[in-house]
Amino acid sequence: MQATYILDLIYFIAALTFVVGLKMLSHPDSARKGNQLAAVGMGIAVLGTLLLHKSALYMHGDARTLKLILIYTALAIGGWAGWASAYRVKMTSMPQMVSLFNGLGGGCAALLAIAELKSLYVEHHPTTSGLILVLFTMFFGAVSLTGSLLAYAKLEDLVKDSSIVLPRHTIVNLCLLAIILGMIGYIVFGAGQSGLMWGLVLFAIALVYGFSFVAPIGGADMPVVISVLNSCTGLTAAAAGIIYDNLIMLVGGILVGASGSILTVLMCKAMNRSLSNVLIGSFGGGGTASTKTAGDQTVKEVSVTDAAVLLNYSKSVVIVPGYGLAVAQAQKICKELDDLLDSNGVEVRYAIHPVAGRMPGHMNVLLAEADVPYTKLYDLEEANDHIKKADVAIIIGANDVVNPAALDDPSSPIYGMPVLEVWEAQNVIVMKRSMKSGYAGIENDLFFHARTKMLFGDAKDTLQKLVSEVKAL
Ligand code: TAP
Repeated sequence: MQATYILDLIYFIAALTFVVGLKMLSHPDSARKGNQLAAVGMGIAVLGTLLLHKSALYMHGDARTLKLILIYTALAIGGWAGWASAYRVKMTSMPQMVSLFNGLGGGCAALLAIAELKSLYVEHHPTTSGLILVLFTMFFGAVSLTGSLLAYAKLEDLVKDSSIVLPRHTIVNLCLLAIILGMIGYIVFGAGQSGLMWGLVLFAIALVYGFSFVAPIGGADMPVVISVLNSCTGLTAAAAGIIYDNLIMLVGGILVGASGSILTVLMCKAMNRSLSNVLIGSFGGGGTASTKTAGDQTVKEVSVTDAAVLLNYSKSVVIVPGYGLAVAQAQKICKELDDLLDSNGVEVRYAIHPVAGRMPGHMNVLLAEADVPYTKLYDLEEANDHIKKADVAIIIGANDVVNPAALDDPSSPIYGMPVLEVWEAQNVIVMKRSMKSGYAGIENDLFFHARTKMLFGDAKDTLQKLVSEVKAL
C-alpha cells in the first residue's frame, strides 16, 4: 500500500479519536479517558506525518537532514514545555494556560500563512481564492496570538484592565477592523506583486488589533473572550488544513472551532448576555459598578459549633461550591462532611452554577476528584427547586453566582444573569474568608440577608472543624 494511503488511514483513525474523545469529555466519568484517547490520536497523527508525509519521503540530502533536525528540536522543546506546564499548573490557573496554549496555536497558523503567502508570490501565481484564504488565516491567527497573550496577562494579574483602555476604544477597534478589511481587499484585487509586502503590514496591524480587541474586555467576561479566541484558532487551523491539503489539520481545526463556538454560546446563555454585549459591553472590567452599597448594614456570624448543629439536624442541605472551594482545595473534606451528614440521615445535594469557579465544568471536575456521585449534582434550574425546600444552603467559596443583585438590581453589571437563589432556603451559611467581593468585583447583599449567617475562614480549615464538630455530636 502506498505511504499516502497509509497516512490517510492514520489521519482517519486520529480524526475518529478526536470525535470520540470530545464526546467522552462531556461526562466527568469518561472525561479523563476521552482526553487521553484524543491525545493518542494526535500522537499517531504527528508520528504518521513525520514518517509518511510526502515532503518527508521525497526530500533528500542536507536540506532533509536540516529540516528534520529543526522539526525534532521544535517537537522536543514544545513537548517538554507543554508537559512541564500542564504538570505544574494549578486547577485554578487553567484558563490562563488554555489561553497561552491557544495563542501559540494561533501564532503557528499565522506563521504558516506567512510562509504560504511568500510561496504564492515567489513560486506560484497568487489566485484570488488562495490569497483570501491565506490572508484570513493570517488575520485570525495573529488576532488569536496577541489577544490570547493579553488574556493570559490579565488573568495572571500582570496587566490591569484600566491601564490599557483608550477613550472610545470600541471606535478605535472598529477603525482597525475597517483598515484590515480594506487592506485584504487591496491585496487581493489591486496590489499586484507588492501584495507580499502589504501582507506583512497586514500581519502587523492584525497583531495590534488582537491586543486592542481584548484590551477593553475584563472581569467576568474573560472566559467568554478566551472561548471566542479558541474558536478563532480552530478556524485558523482548519484554514491552514485547506491551504496545505491536510485532512487532520482541517478536522482538528473544525472541531476546535465548533466546540469553542458552542462553549461561547453556552457561557453567554449562562450569564444571560449576548455575545456582542460581552465583546463591546466592558462588563466586569470597566463597567458601571452597582449603585447599591452595604451602607451600615451588619452581618450575622455563626460559630462552627452552631453551624454543625444546624447542618446535622437538618433534613435537607444544599451545598453551593464556588471558586473558593477550588482555591482552598477543600473538595475532599467537603465530601467527608457530606458523607457524615448522609450517614446521619441528612439529604445532601450540590447546586452547580454553570460559571461557578473559573472554567466551564470547574465544579464538576473538582467534585468528581473527591468522588462525589454525579447524581448528587444539580444544574441551576433543578438546584433552585431543591434550594426552596432545603433547611440549609451552605455556600462554600462562592459569591457572584449567589448574588441577588442579578435579579433585583438593574444597575448591577450582573443584572439578568441567572443565579442560585440560596436566600430561598430556610437558613443560609456563607463560608468565605472576608467580606471581599468575588470575580465580578461587586458587593453581595446576600451577606446581609435576614436568613444569612457568615462563617468566616479558609474553606478547608472551616470544613475540617465542621467535620470534627459533627463527629462529636
Ligand atoms: P467568585 O465570585 O469569584 O467568589 C469566590 C469567593 O471565594 C470570593 O468571594 C472569596 O472571598 C472566596 N474565597 C477565595 N478563596 C477562599 C478560600 N481559601 N476559602 C474560602 N473562601 C475563599 O466565585 P464564584 O461564585 O464561583 O463565581 C465565579 C465567577 O468567576 C463569576 O463571576 C464568573 O462569571 C467568573 N468566571 C467564571 C468562569 C467559568 S467559565 N466558570 C471563568 C472565569 C471567570 P474571600 O476572599 O473573602 O475568601
